[in-house]
Amino acid sequence: MNASVYLETFGCQMNVADSERANVRLQAAGYELSSSAEAADVIIFNTCSVRERAAHKVFTRIGEVRRQRIGREPIVGVMGCVAQLEGGSIFDASPSVSVVAGTRATDRLPELISRALKGEGRVIDLEERAGGEVWDVPATARTSKYVAFVPIIEGCNKFCTYCIVPYSRGREKSREASDIIAEINELRRHGYREIHLIGQNVNSYRPKTDSGLEGIKGATPFCRLLRAVAATGMERLKFTTSFPRDFHPDILAAIDEHENLCEWIHLPVQSGSDRVLRAMRRGHTASDYLKRIDAIRRARRNISVTSDIIVGFPGETAADFRETLKLVEEVGYDGLYIFKYSERPDTPAASLLDDVTREEKSARFMELETTQRNFQKKIYERYVGRELRVLVEGASSKSPSDKTGHSTCHKVVNFPGDGSMLGQVVNVRITVAKQNSLYGEVISAP
Ligand code: SAH
Ligand code: SF4
Ligand code: F3S
Repeated sequence: MNASVYLETFGCQMNVADSERANVRLQAAGYELSSSAEAADVIIFNTCSVRERAAHKVFTRIGEVRRQRIGREPIVGVMGCVAQLEGGSIFDASPSVSVVAGTRATDRLPELISRALKGEGRVIDLEERAGGEVWDVPATARTSKYVAFVPIIEGCNKFCTYCIVPYSRGREKSREASDIIAEINELRRHGYREIHLIGQNVNSYRPKTDSGLEGIKGATPFCRLLRAVAATGMERLKFTTSFPRDFHPDILAAIDEHENLCEWIHLPVQSGSDRVLRAMRRGHTASDYLKRIDAIRRARRNISVTSDIIVGFPGETAADFRETLKLVEEVGYDGLYIFKYSERPDTPAASLLDDVTREEKSARFMELETTQRNFQKKIYERYVGRELRVLVEGASSKSPSDKTGHSTCHKVVNFPGDGSMLGQVVNVRITVAKQNSLYGEVISAP
């Protein structure tokens, strides 16, 4: 009988995409994919280390899973960002782990597991990807049947001072546009309705050749890619993450030109204080950022904007934090992800004194959250009475008779509906604005 593998994923969309890739390799090598950690022969955790809690979570989970086991001890493996950064020390920290596979070892996971199954202890691979780049995942191996993540650039060269990603993911590596387009066409044939082009900084997209972009205009390679993927006819296209300094206004022109480029931009600001932004080495000031926002507001279409903010960066004073509150109020975000600063080993910010107390970080977190909640309420209320085009992705977790999905402006929309709607794009008239979602009724289905 073939060994069964259970793979659990933490972290960002890049990890989700890597897990899909790993699953394809595992199946091709004859492993059975298991949806339960209790009975699988092999348990793999695809890990995130962007914040201390994220890294800590995986060790907690390993303990939890081992306690729940009914049968014999499984082979436990750690892949992803914690694996890349911690390497062999994971074996010492958690003796039940026998496989450590770095962020570039995804494609070699099957052979690493097979060595462990044969009794080899401490199997580790932190090397660069051997041979050619393997990016594509067949449509049949995706997490969702309707929405697919397509990586366009891996790694990050920005080195924001607080961030671990350039160390865990390495330098930027862009994928050829012709491969991206081929993958999107393939997904379209399999009935996918929405694609997210993903990368830590999509604006840095810079493929080695022009393949797939011939004759396509645009101010930057990313702007050209946007127009090229729009031309595939894929129904809905979204992209994350946009780095403010490199955000070119031609992206807005492309969104204006192509209806299938969705009206949502994730543009993380991180702070509203120029002093803190400089210490973070973000390469933009608050006013540079607000100029980008102005350009977005001047676009023909009404574009939703979301952001990430870190509170309690070393040296952040109460006055700096006021600047952040002010910026958040000025922008009026459709959604905001707030994080308390968490020192990451060996990053430049780790040499600064982490001087904002835990209590103060929590207090700033809550104050910012309240500010955002009040603003978001107003923004969401403006949608009442309007119609949104929603891709029906599944049953609502709160009410089983309701369906849930995202609008083109990337709001969560819930509504009464039946199973036949799954995977369809429906028009929903919004009747109620909730805190983090909209509620409405389907007025036309295909
Ligand atoms: N590439 C993206 C996001 C990377 S990580 C970007 O440039 O915005 C996602 C978010 O985690 C970041 O935007 C940041 O807000 C948060 N984050 C990253 N490192 C952090 C740290 N050390 N402490 C707290 N939050 C952090
Ligand atoms: Fe981290 Fe900055 Fe790169 Fe984003 S752009 S992944 S925050 S270093
Ligand atoms: Fe986390 Fe790695 Fe993504 S650190 S956010 S899983 S790139």
